Amino acid sequence: MQTSVYRKVERDFNLKRQRAQSDAKTYKKNIYDENPRLAEIEEEINLISVKSAKARIFSDELSRQVEQEKLELQVYKLDKEYDKILSNIGISRRDFEPKYECEKCKDTGYIESKMCSCFNQELINEAFKQSNLNKIKDENFSTFDYGYYSTVSDKEKYGIEKSPFENIDAIKNLSLNFAHDLDDPSQKNLLFTGSTGLGKTFLANCIAAEAIKQGKSVIYQTAPILLDKMVDYKFKFNKTDDEREEYEKIFNVDLLIIDDLGTEATNSAKFSELFNILNTRLLKNKKILISTNLKPQEIKKEYEERIFSRFVGDFIVCRFVGDDIRLIKKKMART
Ligand SMILES: Nc1ncnc2c1ncn2[C@@H]1O[C@H](COP(=O)(O)OP(=O)(O)OP(=O)(O)O)[C@@H](O)[C@H]1O
Ligand SMILES: [Mg+2]
Ligand SMILES: [Zn+2]
Repeated sequence: MQTSVYRKVERDFNLKRQRAQSDAKTYKKNIYDENPRLAEIEEEINLISVKSAKARIFSDELSRQVEQEKLELQVYKLDKEYDKILSNIGISRRDFEPKYECEKCKDTGYIESKMCSCFNQELINEAFKQSNLNKIKDENFSTFDYGYYSTVSDKEKYGIEKSPFENIDAIKNLSLNFAHDLDDPSQKNLLFTGSTGLGKTFLANCIAAEAIKQGKSVIYQTAPILLDKMVDYKFKFNKTDDEREEYEKIFNVDLLIIDDLGTEATNSAKFSELFNILNTRLLKNKKILISTNLKPQEIKKEYEERIFSRFVGDFIVCRFVGDDIRLIKKKMART
């Protein structure tokens, strides 16, 4: 889990807890202002408990008991009067208590030093937000639909022996293992290649969702935006801490997804950033998933040899084949 995720959630919890407490205080103060007798009663009860403490120290056994009972009776009466006033205005003592979002941990995030489920859930939500992924709710392994992939093999049309269905089934299984084994140094990285609308981004989202569920940190970004940002950062003179942290994350998150490689306008500064990402992450054994419309041969032509050789050695190439799902969807919508 990314420390920035933890810090953000911790800060949010502190804020909402303090807000609940100060809201409760304000509410009580308003009620007391309208019903001054309530404040008087509270004050009187406080005085009595001071008196009763004193009585315990000084009196002899008998007079202590008498005094104690007298004070208890007074408190009892005052309590009743207090509750009566509250019930006349239609509220109860519980309304003075802070309204925590989670009653179990009172918005501390912890129950007896064990993390509360609300805190854990928020860590996951925040990790999703910071990963840049917004489609994960709709695009994950549980919404994966095989129906878009033909079970008919047609080598001429698809270029491979297997049917698109068999092909995607194998890639999907590989992807699931990949998401579960991000820490395994013997696992290679993934390169998704194939023409438009075959489900590369969808499957990348599935992997991201699965990884985040396992508590891993993920960043998703398209190549044009990612490389632009990195080049901007490089040439920026005054870098803020946030910018620095954002930049560092690209090298440190458990999984970096670079979508649409090959759609960026290339230049040597971007090449060198791309090389830097690949090289640093490969050295650290941090996983990368790259998706592209380019065929391996085109990658070789587009990018420098030193970049291409990384792809060959350290990535499993998954070739997506089939019919454009966007078109299938459009056709289905019409009928
Ligand atoms: N397995 C799947 N189950 C359900 N819907 C899918 C599946 N794969 C893809 N889709 C849907 O099909 C459409 C196209 O998929 P996607 O965007 O993943 O294609 P792509 O290969 O990334 O295309 P491009 O190369 O243009 O980026 C999207 O609307 C996506 O939600
Ligand atoms: Mg895509
Ligand atoms: Zn909780």
